[in-house]
Amino acid sequence: DYKQLVDKAYEKHNLDKEEIERLLMPENSEDEAYLFKKADQLRHETVGDFVHLRGLVEFSSHCRRNCNYCGLRRDNTSLLRYRLSPDEIVDIAHNAAMLGYKTIVLQSGEDEFYTADIISDIIRRIKQNDDVAVTLCIGERSYEEYKLMRQAGADRYLLKFETANPEHYAAMHPDMNYDDRIRCLMMLKDLGYEVGSGNIVGLPGQTIAHLAEDIMLLKELDVEMAGIGPFIPHSNTPFRGEAMGTLEMTLRVVAIVRLMLPYANIPATTAVGTIHPQGRQKALMAGANVVMPNVMPSQYRPRYEIYPSKICIGEQPANCRMCIEGIIRSLGREVGTDYGSYKAGQ
Ligand code: 5AD
Ligand code: SF4
Ligand code: FES
Repeated sequence: DYKQLVDKAYEKHNLDKEEIERLLMPENSEDEAYLFKKADQLRHETVGDFVHLRGLVEFSSHCRRNCNYCGLRRDNTSLLRYRLSPDEIVDIAHNAAMLGYKTIVLQSGEDEFYTADIISDIIRRIKQNDDVAVTLCIGERSYEEYKLMRQAGADRYLLKFETANPEHYAAMHPDMNYDDRIRCLMMLKDLGYEVGSGNIVGLPGQTIAHLAEDIMLLKELDVEMAGIGPFIPHSNTPFRGEAMGTLEMTLRVVAIVRLMLPYANIPATTAVGTIHPQGRQKALMAGANVVMPNVMPSQYRPRYEIYPSKICIGEQPANCRMCIEGIIRSLGREVGTDYGSYKAGQ
């Protein structure tokens, strides 16, 4: 039955597609609670009780892509776009380090204004100032560019595949190609980045089988990080009026990914915190062990509107830093004090 299947996942970390589909559809809340409990237990046993913080620097809202779900898509002409200078980015990263962040995430739309040389320079300057790990989240680039930025000191790279089903991927991404995405992930692995990927739960047209494929692909790629967040419709996209992803399904995916990838770093995403006031707390109790608070000055935050009603829009970096520590401690957990790098099990 359901609980036996959860136990199998907890022991073996290896389920087939049909078994994952069954775990995604518990028949009652007791079964679902058992899934979350075992994922939380495994999280405690593998990656432990430290919650690692990543300071998120949203340095450019310009994007050359047109993903159907995203508010930064190029056809959204209502968005007032911004680009930070390298000096501003380095300053914001330094402020984050002063607040105790041990990882800086440099995230943007796909903005070719920032060449690999410019990004490399920013990485070097950040690492000269402070003892931090640097994660990039800037989309698809060439092998040469990924290599330059890795040599400049980038430690990790986030590139979500968003959906593992090639036909569904094509329906979500009018100007992107599934094979390119997978090739980029392979290149990043090859270059020795710690690689993060992930999906969006509740995308229009998504089925339970698709979600099972997403989980299988995370396992197959053997990602060091897995980002899982609910779909939130944005009024300036073709997906306005579509249904939002649910908290329950998002938490189930988080929990199953924890059971399949025992040592992965799994964030309680901003998106899951946006659809429910306790969303991040619930994710942290269902397998997640990372949070990525925004470290941008508040004036920029409304202008990085990937989806509406994002939390922390009016906050300053110091507020989020305090807030998140309160949340972590209220769960009986501790803020991580090291880089929070991937550690494989023995
Ligand atoms: N709802 C939820 N997540 C979204 N993203 C983009 N648009 C949305 C949306 N409408 C996510 C994508 C991307 C990340 C930066 O934001 O997964 O990888
Ligand atoms: Fe651009 Fe990323 Fe948004 Fe796609 S999801 S439109 S690549 S910012
Ligand atoms: Fe930003 Fe709570 S994390 S206000």
